[in-house]
Amino acid sequence: MVPVAVVETIAELRAGVSDPSARGERIALVPTLGALHDGHLALIRRAAEVADFVVVSIFVNPLQFGPTEDLDRYPRTLDDDLAKLEPLGVPVVFAPTVDEMYPSGPSQTRVVAGEVGSLFEGNSRAGHFDGVLTVVTKLLNIVRPGVVVFGQKDAQQVYLVQRMVDDLNFPVTVETVPIVREPDGLALSSRNRFLDDDARRAAVKLSASLQAAAASAHLGTQAVLAAARSILADEPLVKLDYLTVVQPQSFLPVDDDYRGRALVLVAANVGGTRLIDNELITLS
Ligand code: PAF
Repeated sequence: MVPVAVVETIAELRAGVSDPSARGERIALVPTLGALHDGHLALIRRAAEVADFVVVSIFVNPLQFGPTEDLDRYPRTLDDDLAKLEPLGVPVVFAPTVDEMYPSGPSQTRVVAGEVGSLFEGNSRAGHFDGVLTVVTKLLNIVRPGVVVFGQKDAQQVYLVQRMVDDLNFPVTVETVPIVREPDGLALSSRNRFLDDDARRAAVKLSASLQAAAASAHLGTQAVLAAARSILADEPLVKLDYLTVVQPQSFLPVDDDYRGRALVLVAANVGGTRLIDNELITLS
């Protein structure tokens, strides 16, 4: 197995990716916060299918964490991450320090996520998506990939990145990979490691609520929401933040009489850990 080259500086990274791009190879970027799990590995496998050269970035971006959020306790597990990447043949991991990414302190210039950026996750985590879009922009400018790969679990993030790419004409294709789940349905997340046994048992209610929502899709929006809510209300450890049904093209809540493809989004605090999940349904 060829060891993964860990690159910490922008200059070195650019030198490393200049050869593949000069050879006309397609570069894929998989941006991550690290603490890699099988969901991330699915992104990397997809990246290797659609490009010749894969760069995985591992950077816990302070700009996307609010002052009371879990920036300090967010898991940083670089050695474990590299051990998972090696068998996949990832040639380069870009793992910059905060100083390398923000040498003059938090960047003055930000990409603003707009209306959708202040809803749902953005409502509960003020400034989160501005921080995400700003760091994704920086990573795209540093790596200059032809394709960038994201997971559908962060559906609002995927929507906003695609909007940014379209609105600002970034020369990159956004590739989305389906959610990877535990056998009982829990969506994989780096934060799942914070769940104790009781919270882990309770956490499955999120995906169960989405299944109940999907089973009621033929009865309309209100029935979908009621079905999901009744599953969540059953579990005292689940403190619901939001449950909503959005139109995939606008990411805005659907009307009661809406028919067609829709995304059910759920976010909750489960025993002290914030979890999100979503499911595509067809309201008929
Ligand atoms: O989804 C994530 O892991 C992060 O928001 C991202 C895209 C790596 C930006 O820091």
